[in-house]
Amino acid sequence: MEELANNERGRMGARGVFITLEGADGCGKSTQAALLEAALAAGGREVVRLREPGGTPISEKIRALLLDPSNAEMSAECELLLYEASRAQLVRQVIEPALARGAVVLCDRYFDSTYAYQAGGRALPEGLVRAANELGSCGLVPDRTLVLDLDPAVGHARATAGGADRLEAEGLSFQERVRAAYLRLAGQEPQRVRVIDASGQKDEVTARLLAACADLWDPRG
Ligand code: TYD
Repeated sequence: MEELANNERGRMGARGVFITLEGADGCGKSTQAALLEAALAAGGREVVRLREPGGTPISEKIRALLLDPSNAEMSAECELLLYEASRAQLVRQVIEPALARGAVVLCDRYFDSTYAYQAGGRALPEGLVRAANELGSCGLVPDRTLVLDLDPAVGHARATAGGADRLEAEGLSFQERVRAAYLRLAGQEPQRVRVIDASGQKDEVTARLLAACADLWDPRG
């Protein structure tokens, strides 16, 4: 009964706020997710910080498969479906319940990563990736998506300094296609997707991120 009431609240829009952080490898996203979490929690909100792929026991097992450099033979289609499978479990098990109880959900990567990496990076057909995203996200769209933008050469060098995972091993031109896809998305959905300059001091970047979602709490923005 309580679950029903929660679902109903979710559908009616009286729910928490769903923010996603995006960007190519090495853009400082994970550091910023932690800083943003701290800033939002200091305001007294319940903040649920997650990262994709992962966040549930099933999704973490899928993550291990996806990032394992020894899975070099993985097809682009298999990769796409594994990201979506991991996501669907996270949405149903964690994100929807958190939003229903009014929390701020801060997710380090979500379906725009699939667009940027699998359609942009891997060049899978865009329509196919969008359809897969709709299924994997269970139709749940973020209220705001913050894309941390950094020169891909700087990001790639940073990300691979300690060794590369399976995606990072794809090289710089892959990261350039990922960045171009993010910028395309921001052009198509300017209200939801905001591009944030990720260069400069950490706290300056955090301030930019907070400013870019301030209207979600204060409608006068
Ligand atoms: P991770 O080590 O979490 O990287 P980061 O700190 O940059 O987020 O690894 C996630 C990798 O998976 C990253 O290279 C991006 C990639 N990815 C996709 O290709 N598609 C997706 O849908 C998602 C969520 C991630």
